[in-house]
Order: sequence, then C-alpha cells, then structure tokens
Amino acid sequence: MKFFIDTANLEEITEANALGVLDGVTTNPSLMAKEGISGAENVLNHYKAICGIVDGPISAEVISTDFEGMIREGEVLAALHENIVVKIPMIKDGVKAIRYFSSKGIKTNCTLIFSAGQALLAAKAGATYVSPFIGRLDDISVDGLELIKQIRLIFDNYGYETQILAASVRHAMHIIKCAELGSDVMTGPLSAMLSLLNHPLTDSGLAKFLADHKKVNG
Ligand code: E4P
Repeated sequence: MKFFIDTANLEEITEANALGVLDGVTTNPSLMAKEGISGAENVLNHYKAICGIVDGPISAEVISTDFEGMIREGEVLAALHENIVVKIPMIKDGVKAIRYFSSKGIKTNCTLIFSAGQALLAAKAGATYVSPFIGRLDDISVDGLELIKQIRLIFDNYGYETQILAASVRHAMHIIKCAELGSDVMTGPLSAMLSLLNHPLTDSGLAKFLADHKKVNG
C-alpha cells in the first residue's frame, strides 16, 4: 500500500520523506489555509516546493465548482510539474472535468467521496484516484472502512484501474485495516504514520537489550 502524507506543511513533508517510506502528498484548500498560503502565485509556488521535496504524486485541489473553471485551474496546476494530480470534488461538473482530464492524459484525484456510488461514477469517468474520507464517515457513526471494502469489491468486479486512496485517515488502526482491505493508497497526517512505530514490547525489549549489553561492556 502506498503512503501519502495529507498536509501542506513543508517541514512535515520533509520529515515524512526522510523516513524513506513516503510515496506522495495530498493537500486540500483547508490544509493550504492552515499553512497561511494565500494568493494564486503563492499557492502555485507552494505546490512547486512540495514537488521539489517528494518525487511522487502530489494532489493539488481546484477551488472552482463549474466545469470551465475546473478545466482552467486544473490545466495550470498540471503544467506546474509532471507529478501533479488534479484534485477534483465529487460534483456533477467534477465528473465531467475528470472525463476531460482523463482524455488528455492528466491524472486526477476525485475527492470528497462518501459513497460507493460516487466512487463508481468517478471510476467510470476515468479518475486516477478516488478519495473516500473514512475518518469523516466514522465521525458521523458510519463505518468508513466498510466503504473501502465496498469500493474494492466493485472495482475488482469490473477491473477498474482507478486507485482507492483512503483519505481522512486518523490513526494506526485505520492504516492497518486499509492495508488488509486492499486499499491502493492511504493518506493521513505524519502522526498517523509515526504511530505505526509504537509497541510497548519494542520499547521494553530494546531497553533490556541495551541494559544487558551495558552490564558486560560497561
Ligand atoms: C484528502 O485528500 C483530504 O485532504 C483529507 O484526507 C481530509 O482529511 P480530514 O478529514 O482529516 O480533514
């Protein structure tokens, strides 16, 4: 399963990249705003900076909600770097835009997926990735992981090449379950990725190894 980091914070992206297990980055307008990035030129430069850190797919989201606007924005974003993936919301004009970009060979990530029907529509339109938001479903007491399972089954039934990008991942259990269910990618914060490291028996085992070594070596 590929690991993407879900942030626009350059320090966190650099730290995750240094771990050697990072495959890509996802951003969204809220994450860009959190970093205080505003103004078209600054936004584009920030995406370029991310592309300079990570050699993998970088999702950059359009903010238009009409077909023409999404095409205009998406073309500018795609021209920034070969690794840019145009992130498009799951709305009617978004589906049309995904079909347009797919016919031009431009990669897309269909975001804000909350149902299997939405994922199916995006796959039929030729999306490179669909992003089901599992954490936000859990937040409203709907099992987000069940959606990953459903989409996996549907895509496998028909051989869709669209990749499942489990988004809104919050913790280690989400990551492990996504891997069990065959999600192609997961995207989450650095903290979720680092939480995979933790086990108390690793900590106590290492402390004992080092203490035993010290006993005989001083
Ligand atoms: C996906 O690409 C989104 O950026 C993201 O995963 C949303 O996560 P959140 O629910 O933690 O905001």
